[in-house]
Amino acid sequence: MIAVDGPAGSGKSSTARGVATELGLRYLDTGAMYRALTLWLISQNLDFGDPATVARNARRPVIEVTTDTVSPTVRVDGTDITGLIRTREVSNAVSAVASVPEVRTHLVAQQQAVLAGACAAGEGIVAEGRDIGTVVAPQAVVKVFLTASEDARAERRSADLTADPGATPTVTRDEQKRRDTADAAQSAMASDAIKVDSTALSLAQVIGLIVRVAGERGFPLAGHPARTG
Ligand code: C5P
Repeated sequence: MIAVDGPAGSGKSSTARGVATELGLRYLDTGAMYRALTLWLISQNLDFGDPATVARNARRPVIEVTTDTVSPTVRVDGTDITGLIRTREVSNAVSAVASVPEVRTHLVAQQQAVLAGACAAGEGIVAEGRDIGTVVAPQAVVKVFLTASEDARAERRSADLTADPGATPTVTRDEQKRRDTADAAQSAMASDAIKVDSTALSLAQVIGLIVRVAGERGFPLAGHPARTG
């Protein structure tokens, strides 16, 4: 199992998916689960800023994720909402939801079950998030803590949000800073993680670096087709 943690915009998703594809592993996006719950709370008109309301409702929606590298999806109560969870509205609300202990207990257990299922099936998996190396999978063979400068992260994020005219690099940087602060409690770097600053590196270089470390730690490096289904 490989853990990829780090702040918003550090390139975690592209990196984790790229590593999983190269090594023929599955892929778990834990942030998508927190985003899915947040979107559900918004859609139910529930006050996501009130921890008691969030705690009371945390287990109501059924959140399911697929672990393929090609088109990982997240469903809430059977509906595929993958395309709806990366809006600024959800991004700006998700930290309040994710900081509620009942939410973390519930979703971490679900994430651990997904990882255990993959391992039981004899498949490796790359999991990305904030607390994979510290809480969800402290046993991970490779732990990466991915960072990048604030400017580089804001630029990448606003490039992801081209459909949103409000998402200028300055606005994105401010929103990102707020999210980093709000996420700080669950974003500690594991003491045995490898810190990778991706500011001056290409995606291919970051993936190559992690794949090399994984090879040194026993992951077979032969080319595998991307995981589907
Ligand atoms: O990774 P992504 O930006 O999609 O994560 C969305 C939010 O989900 C984070 O800002 C954080 O609040 C929460 N999160 C978390 N723990 C994780 C993954 C994400 O608290 N393992």
